[in-house]
Amino acid sequence: MSAAEPVDLTVADLHPALGDSALTSMNFLNEVSERYPAAVSLAAGRPYEEFFDLAAVHRHLDTFHRHLVDDLGHRPEQARRLLLQYGRTKGIVHHLIARNLAVDEGITVDPEDVVVTVGCQEAMFLVLRALRAGPTDVLLAVAPTYVGLTGAARLVDLPVWPVAGGPAGVDLADLTAQVHRARAAGLRPRACYLMPDFANPSGVSIDTVHRHRLLDLAAQEDLLLLEDNPYGLFHSDDGPRPPTLKALDTGRRVVYLGSFAKTVLPGARVGYVVADQRVAGPDGQVGPLADQLAMIKSMVTVNTSPIAQAVIGGRLLEHGCSLVAANTRERSAYTRNLRHLVAGLTRRFPDQPDQPDGSAVRWTVPAGGFFVVVTVPFPVDDALLDRSGRDYGVLWTPMAHFYDDTAPVCALRLSVSAVTPEQIDVGLDRLAALITDELARRAG
Ligand SMILES: Cc1ncc(COP(=O)(O)O)c(C=O)c1O
Repeated sequence: MSAAEPVDLTVADLHPALGDSALTSMNFLNEVSERYPAAVSLAAGRPYEEFFDLAAVHRHLDTFHRHLVDDLGHRPEQARRLLLQYGRTKGIVHHLIARNLAVDEGITVDPEDVVVTVGCQEAMFLVLRALRAGPTDVLLAVAPTYVGLTGAARLVDLPVWPVAGGPAGVDLADLTAQVHRARAAGLRPRACYLMPDFANPSGVSIDTVHRHRLLDLAAQEDLLLLEDNPYGLFHSDDGPRPPTLKALDTGRRVVYLGSFAKTVLPGARVGYVVADQRVAGPDGQVGPLADQLAMIKSMVTVNTSPIAQAVIGGRLLEHGCSLVAANTRERSAYTRNLRHLVAGLTRRFPDQPDQPDGSAVRWTVPAGGFFVVVTVPFPVDDALLDRSGRDYGVLWTPMAHFYDDTAPVCALRLSVSAVTPEQIDVGLDRLAALITDELARRAG
């Protein structure tokens, strides 16, 4: 945009979300990457591109087509129509998603409770749009919060109330306090959004004991939980993964948000939502929340591209519907990178003071996922990121982007997903130089 161009509209005349930092955040971060293309990016949470395989995409499509004919008994013209014509709003791979959830997560789902969406992002939007019934509704969200969720909430005029995450991944006392505070103010907390596994951006996971307590609390406070789980398969240890909230959910408290962006292909833009909550209509008919979400979807994207769904479906079929099986190579690469990054930080910042006096450089050691958070003794803002890209050749994400206020934040997020160990080394050398120079500048 140029200031000298003639003007027909102003942002102030458009939806208020358009001036909001939650919406400008992603664009800003993309722009910085474009500005410094030669920089090592420890910013992008994208999957590793060397795993992408165009030939496999064609094969997946064929596999799914054969499944339609051979397994489901569709005639060739019906199968062609399913793949190429407008289609079912709730999607055409719902049965495979239900099977995948059974195989990998031990979750039993009626395929009719699944809506296949244009990425998890659309799933979040549909759920928030449905839950925001009036001006007293609010959404609770564990902070720091994925900015895509905050932006979607803004677009449906749903205020987001932060809940402390803390070392347990969710501070249950704070969650209770926020629910009570909202209700005392005449507001209606509709749900709490959280990521129990290797959260973006904090990297923190919730242990099984806390998952049970969270579900108890949700029942006690009559609250829905929105469980977002794009990173859950990328655990770095070889022990069992904790059960998802949805696997433990006996009272239909959990709306489960899924994404195939990290486990199959982001370019397919396919995600889904499991919404088995029973909704009574004005005529007394009861159906799943999924049906209401589909109603909204029919006015937003009509249906998720069946071609894209077929690619996901084919990949699932080729691995017995197990994304765990389909991602062994990916999981080991991300684990290797995560360990490499943490070891690299330890080498570059040895002998940090034990006392939490704010003078140390510290970092999280997540049990999986893509993200490590580094805390430094000075505020980390967009200007520092720009300087980091320009003068040091390394990009990362200021943690301030994941908080819904303007308070300074002394932390940055590093991502290990889109880089090699060699690039991690170069990136960390450059980051260490930036931090050392910044500390010296502030000391002097
Ligand atoms: C926590 C979280 N939720 C949702 C998404 C969006 O997923 P999708 O690409 O499927 O829309 C992302 C993408 O990075 C994410 O990190």
